[in-house]
Amino acid sequence: MIKQVKKAIFPIAGLGTRFLPATKSIPKEMLIILDRPILEWAVIEASLSGIEEMIFVTSSKKNSIIEHFDKSSILEDLLKKKKKMDKLLLIQSQNKLGNFSYLIQDEPKGLGHAVWCARKLIGKDENFVVILPDDIILSKKPAVKQLIDVSCKTKGGSVLALEKVPKKEVYKYGVINPKRKMNGFYSINSLVEKPKPEKAPSNLSVVGRYLLNSKIFEKLEKQKKGFGGEIQLTDSLASLIDDPGLFGIEFEGKRFDCGSKLGFIEANLNFGLSDKEINSSLRKKIRNL
Ligand code: UTP
Repeated sequence: MIKQVKKAIFPIAGLGTRFLPATKSIPKEMLIILDRPILEWAVIEASLSGIEEMIFVTSSKKNSIIEHFDKSSILEDLLKKKKKMDKLLLIQSQNKLGNFSYLIQDEPKGLGHAVWCARKLIGKDENFVVILPDDIILSKKPAVKQLIDVSCKTKGGSVLALEKVPKKEVYKYGVINPKRKMNGFYSINSLVEKPKPEKAPSNLSVVGRYLLNSKIFEKLEKQKKGFGGEIQLTDSLASLIDDPGLFGIEFEGKRFDCGSKLGFIEANLNFGLSDKEINSSLRKKIRNL
């Protein structure tokens, strides 16, 4: 029987250099989209997908993240006194999103290294997800749930979120070499991290959602530095190709790269336009620009 996927690793120890100077003191993951930090949107997606254990691989400079997800009795009491019950429920709903664990990555040695830091919290032969929160996805069905569904169809296979990108932009991503297209998903032959456009095996790039098997830790343990002198997650993904296999899905939904200025503003506009309270006023303001 296939075990349910219950744990998510959120690697959030990066420096966020594309967002300097803001990220000198504010973690990128705490920048606000609409009325919540980027990271909370990703945690909500995980929770809606059935994930119960939220594992943050963070850095000691990002304490505001711990504060944000911690219960705040003082704030709750104040909201009760002021009879702001809607706000109280909002704050309390955060504590119902799951159980939170925090691990420190002492130095940003790469995404592969950040994931490896969480190895002791994942069981033997266990499937888990990795969520890069700066990729926010607006979709009808949560993107992580879409990956879980493909994993079920493939008897517990590992699954990557894929997006077609213009060929000239493949150098920014991990790119798959697809073997076969099946019912809405691909089986994967191999992968390459940030290829030159002329050498890319396809324009199907891997974006911030991965459903992986714990076998990957054996590979990450021995992995050498790759592109950019960092331990890359993509370089270890090939170890998951054997039975039950590595698959990819072009998920339904719109992705915003909130680690970049353009993607961040686009996300704020789209989340604003899908918010009942402000959508019509925002639409007017945009028209008047
Ligand atoms: P990015 O490539 O976006 O790097 O990492 P970054 O440092 O956050 O941002 P820039 O490029 O300098 O602006 C993708 C995800 O992997 C995490 C990041 O925090 C981000 O969520 N990461 C990256 C780690 O946790 N540790 C690392 O060593 C590298």
